[in-house]
Amino acid sequence: MDPRGQKHLLGRPEQGILPMDIWFNLVLFVHLVALVVGAATNVVMPVIGGRLAKMPPEMRGEFGAIAGRLSRNSQIALGLLVITGIIMVALRYGGLEGASPWFIAKLVLVGLLGVVLVAARVIPPARFNPRVFGMLVRLALLGIIFCAVMAFN
Ligand code: HEM
Repeated sequence: MDPRGQKHLLGRPEQGILPMDIWFNLVLFVHLVALVVGAATNVVMPVIGGRLAKMPPEMRGEFGAIAGRLSRNSQIALGLLVITGIIMVALRYGGLEGASPWFIAKLVLVGLLGVVLVAARVIPPARFNPRVFGMLVRLALLGIIFCAVMAFN
């Protein structure tokens, strides 16, 4: 209701267009959609990668392009996860003070995931097995989701 007693479809006017909880939920929604995109890519990539190596060269180009598109999507998803995560912390918690150990562990794992992803770009594949990178990324992702569930439930 607004001060004149009229219902406001988008929330209470004194709180802005939408109440803060709804903003938070919308950002959490984007956070979780980004998680779906990032996680799905991480499940699909090893399947494509495994087949790619055994494919005849004429098919490799098309599948390589698909793999490239998917890994671009997962990079965008990771960026969105970090941005929306920071927005949620700012909106609801106002910073990291008083954060639970599970939440800190989640952030440490996000940092490690970032390091692994940068290393995968910098270190040539001949010096480090890309499969090991893939495993590390999947392990970090599982750990992050576990810590998030423990932290917020
Ligand atoms: C790979 C990166 C990330 C993944 C996979 C991830 C995963 C998740 C998941 C699964 C949830 C839902 C937890 C639940 O409600 O049970 C969640 C919520 C949340 N995440 Fe993330 N997250 C990531 C990065 C981040 C970052 C970098 C931050 C902060 C800087 C962050 C802050 C939050 C917050 C504040 C919530 C919601 C808390 C609440 O409901 O009160 N996340 N995340």
